[in-house]
Amino acid sequence: MKTKYPIGILGATGMVGQRFIQILERHPWFEIAWLAASDRSSGKPYGEAAKWRLDTPLPERIAKMTVAPADPEGAPKIIFAALDAAIARELEPRFAAAGCAVVSNSSAYRMAPNVPLVIPEINADHLHLIEEQPSRRQSGGYMVTNPNCSTIGLVMALKPIEERFGIEQIFVTTMQAVSGAGYPGVASMDILDNVVPYIGNEEEKMEAETLKLLGKLEGHAVTPLAARISAQCNRVAVEDGHTESVSIKLAKTATREEILAAWAEFRPLAGQGLPTAPDQPIEWAPQDDRPQPRLDRNRGNGMAVTVGRLRPCGLLDWKFTVLSHNTIRGAAGAAILNAELLASLGKLEPVVEVAARA
Ligand SMILES: NC(=O)c1ccc[n+]([C@@H]2O[C@H](COP(=O)([O-])OP(=O)(O)OC[C@H]3O[C@@H](n4cnc5c(N)ncnc54)[C@H](OP(=O)(O)O)[C@@H]3O)[C@@H](O)[C@H]2O)c1
Repeated sequence: MKTKYPIGILGATGMVGQRFIQILERHPWFEIAWLAASDRSSGKPYGEAAKWRLDTPLPERIAKMTVAPADPEGAPKIIFAALDAAIARELEPRFAAAGCAVVSNSSAYRMAPNVPLVIPEINADHLHLIEEQPSRRQSGGYMVTNPNCSTIGLVMALKPIEERFGIEQIFVTTMQAVSGAGYPGVASMDILDNVVPYIGNEEEKMEAETLKLLGKLEGHAVTPLAARISAQCNRVAVEDGHTESVSIKLAKTATREEILAAWAEFRPLAGQGLPTAPDQPIEWAPQDDRPQPRLDRNRGNGMAVTVGRLRPCGLLDWKFTVLSHNTIRGAAGAAILNAELLASLGKLEPVVEVAARA
């Protein structure tokens, strides 16, 4: 790719917005050209508006950029969005209507029938749904979403098993990091020395999104996977990395070796040259006490999910543990991989060409 695509970040000052900056500053295809956040931040230099929370330095070029108002006027035509759902519900369609490709992290439109909810390794074909969006015909713009941070690890682990053996029932219990609640998130007095067995609407999102992601695109909509699912979500005192205990009932019998092989051989993006795609998207941790957030969340630059502890389940067929980095694989990295897929399919060209003609 000779010239880079100019991109903008909506919600650039938040937890996920910061991850976008961290990953995109060294990205070979995309260049950060615009940063926007709320009225509290707009007009200020980014370095002053954002409380930088990551363990790599805030790039100097970014620190000096002025935060723009969250308005499509003057924004680039490729937008990574990291807004709260209530704000995304209003703003994302405005950017799509203005001809932008909106690659969103928010839950606002994930379950809309004409909005693709995509993990490139799992259901790249669902991207076809962007052609069902009225804005696509009117301005070239559209919305694409990635799943909730806890859904993504689960679905990555389930897909290779579902493909080979079918899945009839899924029971998952999460232990989710505090960064998943944004910044400042859960008060320290509420989470230190504690587990909070409630994350608003998270269980419903996990259940619905998992079945849409594993579903089939049929005509103009996705038919969800016909499996039963139950999720229980907990907030724990971990900074980054969601851990999940999973039990599954299969349609066909599978041995332990067959499941391990399905995970090891799952490399659907191999050879496609997407810069953020990990070589090995599902990594197996053979040790009895892994995966652990502190030790395993950064595998594959935070884009690989780690599975471990595969063993027979006394209620369903098999149980295991899965871990994924919630602000990388579960948020910014997921959206960037979606945008790379869109670029490789030529779906970013029309929006950029329209911008160049305007
Ligand atoms: N954290 C995760 O692990 C994770 C994972 C997956 C998905 N998500 C989703 O990603 C989204 C962002 O999450 P986050 O954790 O980054 O949240 P956050 O830290 O609270 O950041 C929210 C961002 O939205 C901006 N904002 C707030 N009100 C706005 C308005 N009226 N207009 C424009 N911008 C506004 C904020 O700007 P100011 O700084 O100016 O207030 C900030 O940049 C949420 O929908 C979340 O559910 C998060």
